[in-house]
Amino acid sequence: MSFYFQNGYLYCDQLKVKDIQSQVPESPFYLYSKQQITTNYNAYLEAIEGLNAIIGYAIKANNNLAILKHLQELGSSAVLVSGNELCIALKANFKPEKTILNGNGKTIAELTYAIQNQVLINIDSEFDLQHIQQATEKAKKQANVLLRVNPDIDPQVHPYVSTGIKDSKFGIQNNKLDWFLDSIKSSTFLNLVGIHCHLGSTIEQTQIFYDATVLMSKFVEIIRSRGFELKYLNIGGGLGIDYHKQGKNLPTPLELINSIRQILESLDISLIIEPGRSIIGNTSILVNRVIGTKSNGKKNFAVVDGSMAELIRPSLYNAYHHIDLIEPCRGQLKTFDIVGPVCESADFLAKDRPLASPIEGMGLAVWDVGAYCQVMSSNYNLKMRPPEYWVDGKQLIQIRKKECMEDYLKLFNI
Ligand code: LLP
Repeated sequence: MSFYFQNGYLYCDQLKVKDIQSQVPESPFYLYSKQQITTNYNAYLEAIEGLNAIIGYAIKANNNLAILKHLQELGSSAVLVSGNELCIALKANFKPEKTILNGNGKTIAELTYAIQNQVLINIDSEFDLQHIQQATEKAKKQANVLLRVNPDIDPQVHPYVSTGIKDSKFGIQNNKLDWFLDSIKSSTFLNLVGIHCHLGSTIEQTQIFYDATVLMSKFVEIIRSRGFELKYLNIGGGLGIDYHKQGKNLPTPLELINSIRQILESLDISLIIEPGRSIIGNTSILVNRVIGTKSNGKKNFAVVDGSMAELIRPSLYNAYHHIDLIEPCRGQLKTFDIVGPVCESADFLAKDRPLASPIEGMGLAVWDVGAYCQVMSSNYNLKMRPPEYWVDGKQLIQIRKKECMEDYLKLFNI
């Protein structure tokens, strides 16, 4: 692992985080390990050996351009959910024909842009199919499309990140399959190349992927029997990571792929997989500074400069992120809530954690913040989005500047 402790100090690869913190002028900041990104991507690459497969990194998890370029250079494809994500994917040199556009509310402008670039597009609903048709007419080009099926499988995760159950807003109504197939068949511009499902995020068992693949294979057979030459089976993303660090045995990409390998081989179909969190989640920490500690007599609070504005997952999903002081601390061991300075009680990064009472200015790291953290940050309380750095070998490199008030004020015409 790229983040580890040695003599009480937290390291990122070969560099001591405390030394990095004293070099970096801003606080808080995101710190990534480039090596860990490579390792995580390569785990998928090794897992798909022997299969025809596209690893589509879900850009929504983290869209830092340096990270995207790095993944593209490693051979990754990209999975998108907006026109702007297509724009940044093109800037990072991802091959558009191997890029997939998802979404339940794609606009005609986004669809036209995607079709002009020959991006693979998921059909999510009746109106989405009609919009894709309109966009093909506008672009005067064929669109390669996949049907997003709703597998109605419970991924056993937080309801906000569960996407493949019957009541989810994503995917077609499966009993309307014939209508979709007839519409595609009668359209001159649509070319059905695959089917897609995405069960949810933070999934911890391969059985869930296996069940979905079995179900999807039935759809493949039905659709093929209707005369379509399906090339792709897209099983979405969703593999969880070890946020809790209590030695839980989570499936690896190899275990995931091996659990469905036989089905793919017997269908003779190419796999598309859309990992986000499992590629980027554990590659970063948020490095904060302790502003002070206080107590209400019952509860102890460590107030740090990071907050729900930089990292909303704890507030939004009650998500657990591990926290650690980045250096040895002799303070008394107590139970703390780690909170930010934002004027809102929902502003916390961790609750009820044992921590040696830190002194002001000490560094406090929040672990596993590579996925869905910086991308979900906001300007609430006029906090500016934090900068990002990565460790590349022995070098510390800034890969995104801190947003500043000037950037913010630029948006007003006054
Ligand atoms: N494909 C589709 C169609 C998706 O909707 C998603 C994520 C992915 C792939 C990537 O899933 P991953 O491998 O990263 O789990 N903001 C939430 C996560 C929302 C994920 C939504 N969909 C969080 O912070 O946990």
